[in-house]
Amino acid sequence: MCGIVGYIGRRDAVGIALKGLKRLEYRGYDSAGIASCDAKGVVFLEKSPGKIASLERKLKHIPPSILAIGHTRWATHGEPNFENAHPHADCKNEIFIAHNGIIENHETIRAALTQEGHSFRSRTDSEVVAHLVERERASASTLEEAVTRALSYVEGTFGLAVISAREPKKLIGARRGSPLLVGLGKKEYLLASDAAAIIGRTRRVIYLDDNEMAVFTPSSKKIFTLAHSPSGAHKEIEKDVRTIDWTVEDSQKEGFGSFMEKEIFEAPLVIENALRGHVLAKAGEVKFGGLDMMRDRLSQTNRVIFVGCGTSHYASLVGKYFFETFARLPAEAVLASEFRYQPPVMDGKTAVFAISQSGETADTLEAVREAKRKGALTLGIVNVVGSSIAREVQAGVYNHAGPEIAVASTKAFISQLCVLALSAIYFGRLRKTLAALEASAVLSELLSYPARARRLLTDARSDVDRAAEAYHKVDHFFFLGRRYNWPVALEGALKLKEISYIHAEGYAAGEMKHGPLALVNAGFPAFMVIPRDSVYEKTVSNIQELKARGAKIIALATEGDDAIAKLADHVIRIPKLREELSPILSVIPLQLFAHRAAVLRGCDVDRPRNLAKSVTVE
Ligand code: M6R
Repeated sequence: MCGIVGYIGRRDAVGIALKGLKRLEYRGYDSAGIASCDAKGVVFLEKSPGKIASLERKLKHIPPSILAIGHTRWATHGEPNFENAHPHADCKNEIFIAHNGIIENHETIRAALTQEGHSFRSRTDSEVVAHLVERERASASTLEEAVTRALSYVEGTFGLAVISAREPKKLIGARRGSPLLVGLGKKEYLLASDAAAIIGRTRRVIYLDDNEMAVFTPSSKKIFTLAHSPSGAHKEIEKDVRTIDWTVEDSQKEGFGSFMEKEIFEAPLVIENALRGHVLAKAGEVKFGGLDMMRDRLSQTNRVIFVGCGTSHYASLVGKYFFETFARLPAEAVLASEFRYQPPVMDGKTAVFAISQSGETADTLEAVREAKRKGALTLGIVNVVGSSIAREVQAGVYNHAGPEIAVASTKAFISQLCVLALSAIYFGRLRKTLAALEASAVLSELLSYPARARRLLTDARSDVDRAAEAYHKVDHFFFLGRRYNWPVALEGALKLKEISYIHAEGYAAGEMKHGPLALVNAGFPAFMVIPRDSVYEKTVSNIQELKARGAKIIALATEGDDAIAKLADHVIRIPKLREELSPILSVIPLQLFAHRAAVLRGCDVDRPRNLAKSVTVE
């Protein structure tokens, strides 16, 4: 999704903005641009569709400056081209803005401003902001006053950076519904939509909340609330400074061919981190500082609704099983993008659990807001510390998987499953629906998973590679599983389709004969997740149905299950696991398979086409 970087200080502003944009590349983009301003108020603007490298070539002639804003765009309104790339300027090329989010009333504003004589260069919704600021600047005494007035006309969402040639020593940022943070360096200030853009320069940050504006000069910073109306005033406020606890090095590939591969191999560490400090295995208890403060309210909960998108939704589907099994709490997993429109029925005894790696997914954030409006308790399982969802839910747990750079989510899914399992046990113990002895057995098994994940990553590799070698050229794939491993099949299909562009469908294996089986003919590949569990025999029957139609079977089966080798064309082994917890490890070979198939097909596995890491528009 789009990225913003801004800089004001004593150093090479353009170079710093460019570096920041490069760090945001992983989020996905289709064009990029930078606007800068020197001390005399001479402005420079360069934009380019395509990769940042082509923007970089154009920047060579720009003279040194101390103020710059940069943007990577992922098209929503208007195709990816030069005109539509940010930053956008006003009529006089004096004011420049970089914008993330969507201006919902841009057509009305554009029509009004056009009548007033403004002329537009792009098809974007964002450009109206530059012209609104231009109009307001004519009567406002400062740029910040013009910005706050301009934004009071805007409906929709924005993370915004603004500079002006008339005030060449000022950088302004504003936020409503699209993330923006402030970096506090040594005699320099930065703005960014994502901390990854600025951690090379500072780890001290302020997260802006909705309807807040930051105003910097090289020697001062002020944070204000935005005015509600054109005649309203912006008010100065104090905000806490936070420290980012991950480093640039965390974001590097560490010798792996791609971030995705590195992140898959982080599974053992990620499981350890998710469990660390929460598990009292002998006592059969789970400790969650983030939830303990509301034990009373939690113990009254009589229903759980999970909201999330994509991979996080599939983690929620497993979470539903965890909660029903361990906590005996009725649970649902709802796609966040559908949640608001259902319309959801809930009350004060409903807990709505938002599951999100980035903590910025617009649909999930809106689902949280809807749940709050309806009086439900909002909880979160989020990876990115300080993200919007983390801040908006009433309580929650970080999964501490570290930065996930590849667009395809892998390690975050595994850590989400761990935290979901722990949360279900926590609720089970709180509600006294889970005996301490049983909880103790489940927790002890969980503690063995880092070592088992380590072994699985080594042991399964060659079988996975062989299967990927055999099937990477196909056009279609089924991924099938039952019960706890049905969501794993869905996730396996999502991974394969998003990075290899092979059409893949995930299904509950029992559904095949209700339609999808019609697609199967000789050679059609099906990836069966079939551990030795309570639904094993049923899944064997599904394999038989597929084989009778000529399908090729890749079976993910339990070590020691020799019978499966007679049915399947390829077998990949996982250790014997508790059925309920098996998704935490059974997903790993599917992630490896998708990765290998995509590499063999020559795809850019970290940055699949058309996708973005963090989807901050609905
Ligand atoms: O950051 P989130 O977990 O909220 O993101 C949700 C989805 O956008 C994300 O899981 C997406 O489906 C990934 N590309 C899957 O690999």
